[in-house]
Amino acid sequence: MARPTEPIRAEHAGLVQMIETLEDLVDSLSQVRNGVQNHELVGAHHWFVTALLPHAEVEEAHLYPLVDELMGGTGLATATMTADHAAIRAKVDALGEAVEKLAATESWHEAEKRRRRIAITLAQLLAILRLHFEKEELVYLNLLDENVTRERIEAALAHGHGRDEPDEAPESAAAAS
Ligand SMILES: [Fe+2]
Ligand SMILES: [Fe+2]
Repeated sequence: MARPTEPIRAEHAGLVQMIETLEDLVDSLSQVRNGVQNHELVGAHHWFVTALLPHAEVEEAHLYPLVDELMGGTGLATATMTADHAAIRAKVDALGEAVEKLAATESWHEAEKRRRRIAITLAQLLAILRLHFEKEELVYLNLLDENVTRERIEAALAHGHGRDEPDEAPESAAAAS
């Protein structure tokens, strides 16, 4: 029988596919004379803003309260994961600023330096995300599967998860794989 949290796990699986594509982009960026185009980086940032951050917002608003309820109702149980979300948002903002600065950089040498810095920021962001998803699945989703019905999960998701399809993976970033 399908687990109650299957829709969330499926959404995670879709997001992880894009994370894998972006890991390839980090790999390309880390190479000298890598030829990575600015529009690929703009596309990557766009994906974080339009697909990844809305996922986190829905969790915070509708899923974490369910988890909290099961873990004592103090709000402390999900505080560390909410802090992860804040760190993820800050990295996405930093990425966006760095990509904008790169677009305004005319010197080839300076642009290379900026691309290497972007590779580091992107790699850090992807590493945080991988661990964050793992923690959610291993602890929160397993806890929900044991204690909450599919109907309850679906009622929470109706407030956000699955409300809209996330944006298609931007062509530019997908092309990096
Ligand atoms: Fe999350
Ligand atoms: Fe999640």
